[in-house]
Amino acid sequence: MSKQQQLDRIEQDIKNQNICSELAAGATQLVMGDGSLDAKLMFIGEAPGAQEDKQGKPFVGAAGKFLNKMLQSINLNREDVYITNIVKYRPPANRDPLPEEKAQFMPFLTRQIEAIKPDLIVTLGRHSTNAFLPDVRIGEAHGQPKRKRFNIEKTPGGERADELQGDAEARTDTDRASEDGALEASTQQIAAKLGGVTDGVSKQSQLAFVILPLYHPAAALYNGGMRTVLLEDFARIPKILELIEKDKAKA
Ligand code: URA
Repeated sequence: MSKQQQLDRIEQDIKNQNICSELAAGATQLVMGDGSLDAKLMFIGEAPGAQEDKQGKPFVGAAGKFLNKMLQSINLNREDVYITNIVKYRPPANRDPLPEEKAQFMPFLTRQIEAIKPDLIVTLGRHSTNAFLPDVRIGEAHGQPKRKRFNIEKTPGGERADELQGDAEARTDTDRASEDGALEASTQQIAAKLGGVTDGVSKQSQLAFVILPLYHPAAALYNGGMRTVLLEDFARIPKILELIEKDKAKA
């Protein structure tokens, strides 16, 4: 199955299984994702807002404009990355997504990640970060890459009983000088895990990715200090990607 077919199937499954039917009833449409299916970099926000609901694409409102600017600051365009949200329907009046709404969408997000196979997942804001790294505080963890393992259950028919299990490895790399080494060690393990997932035999496979928690771009819209922090954290992305690539080449 091509990546597009996989994504189409995930979308269809969300609809067929009536995921968050109340949110769906109040929304214009389901907002799946946008960008390159071969992206190395995947951004995950929290939920669509008014503009996203209208246009059917994530991050196309004010926060999205700032996200585009940050991408440009590291010489990337939206077309180079893949962008999505945890929750795929706009919550009423842009309220925070509820824990049960995030939980309902997590298996589909996991499948989306598995289809895109990014090298680096950037979680935007507290909701997205804590969906992967429940014990992490965004104020402390922003800008620091972390490793996360996904346990993927396979049913006997080969169909996925998608599970994302909470085994966050919240390694706190406070010392930037030692951080590159720490990341290198973690990505070697990632390569080993990826080997396991492609064999198609095991009932339970593991996928691992590096996650970079960042503040939500909306937080920077009216806060100059936050804007600076986000731009500084963003500037680290090319180096982190480079380290992951280097490690993949070695594996
Ligand atoms: N905020 C988000 O978290 N996601 C969007 O798509 C837009 C704004």
